[in-house]
Parts: sequence; C-alpha cells; structure tokens
Amino acid sequence: MNKDKLIHKFDKQARVYDRRRKNVSDRKWREPLVSCAYGKVLEISVGAGANFPFYPKGVEVTAVDFSHEMLLSAQRGAAEYRLNVEFIRADVESLSFEPNTFDTIVSTLSFCGYENPLVVLASLNKWCKPDGQILLMEHGVSSKPMVRHMQNLMNPMFRRMVGCHLNRDTMGMLQHAGLSVEREEHHWMDMIHLIWARPKK
Ligand SMILES: C[S@@+](CC[C@H](N)C(=O)[O-])C[C@H]1O[C@@H](n2cnc3c(N)ncnc32)[C@H](O)[C@@H]1O
Repeated sequence: MNKDKLIHKFDKQARVYDRRRKNVSDRKWREPLVSCAYGKVLEISVGAGANFPFYPKGVEVTAVDFSHEMLLSAQRGAAEYRLNVEFIRADVESLSFEPNTFDTIVSTLSFCGYENPLVVLASLNKWCKPDGQILLMEHGVSSKPMVRHMQNLMNPMFRRMVGCHLNRDTMGMLQHAGLSVEREEHHWMDMIHLIWARPKK
C-alpha cells in the first residue's frame, strides 16, 4: 500500500488510540513488558503512547512514528505521565541511528504494519547495544488451525481498512532475524506474543 495512504489511515485512528491510552484494556500485557525498560529507550511506531503509563521513572525515551496525529496525541501522553521523550516523525523502515545506541528497544503492535518487517528487525539488532534488550508485544498468526484460517481469510480486508496484516508469523520472523528470545508468552488464542529478547550477537 502507498505510504501516504497508510499514514492517512493511521492519522484517522489517532483519536481512538488517544482514548485507549487512558483506558488501557491490554494493561495486563503491556505493564510487565514495558516496566522492564531501562536507560536509553527507543520506542518504534509509538502511536498515541499507550505504553507511557508503564515506563519506569528515569528512562529517556526516543519515540518514532510516521503519523503526525498519533505523535500529537503521544506528546499529550508524555506530558501527562511526566515522561522524558524526544519525538521523531519518520518512517521506521527508512530510519537510521548509530549502531549500539539504545539499552532498550520497545515495539508494541507495530510489526503488523511494515512492508519489510525483517529489514526493521535487522535495524533493531543494529541499534540495540549488545547487552541491551528488545521488548515486543505483537499480534500475529495463531498456531490454532481454525483461528489461523480466519486470520488468513480476513487479512486482505483488515489491511485495506485498518492498515495492518493479521497473519504475520511473528515468532518465525524473530527466529529468522536471529534475535535471542529469553522469555516468551502467548495469549488470546495464541494471537498475542510477548517477547523479552536480546539482539543478534
Ligand atoms: C497499530 S498502531 C500501534 C501503536 C502503539 N505502538 C500501540 O501499541 O498502541 C501502529 C502504529 O505504527 C505506526 N506505523 C506503522 N508503520 C509505520 C512506519 N513504517 N513508520 C513509522 N510508524 C509506523 C502507525 O502510525 C501507528 O501509530
């Protein structure tokens, strides 16, 4: 899908995401993951800042998103939670940082949207310090055949309407990118994956 069209789709969803930050129904998954962040943190595709309530005090966050409206909402969130955040409006797929820059990299519900998720994973491996951590909460294809069948059926419509893929093989992608997974949890009919990982050595 054309990038401008995709950005427009996410701009239009910013108000929904703004409300979600205040009433985080997936708190039970976000909190244990995001509360592990420390040091210099990169959050890619930050949206409206749904993770901001869960960052420990003292972290320095760099937050990236290509949607102007999402970033406006995330800025309000950062002020609300008194979080130290530098915002960058950019396409994560063509972003660059110096290698070994971040102690923690966070991504929640973002890998469903990229054209080339493996390119983004390769960048995370590069930007993360060797002893740093990569924390992910991603939705992806389920191991349950009936659920997977429905995800495959609904995928084209979902991509057109919401801008994301329903049937990405999250765990397969991580393995392919060489991340070292230290802890994993799978929820909600195996469609939500929580990952605590280290970058590829
Ligand atoms: C499904 S939302 C998730 C937002 C947030 N991470 C959360 O957990 O609520 C996906 C977000 O990724 C952003 N996004 C998608 N593709 C992107 C890209 N290539 N570069 C930057 N931002 C992107 C969208 O603008 C949107 O804010």
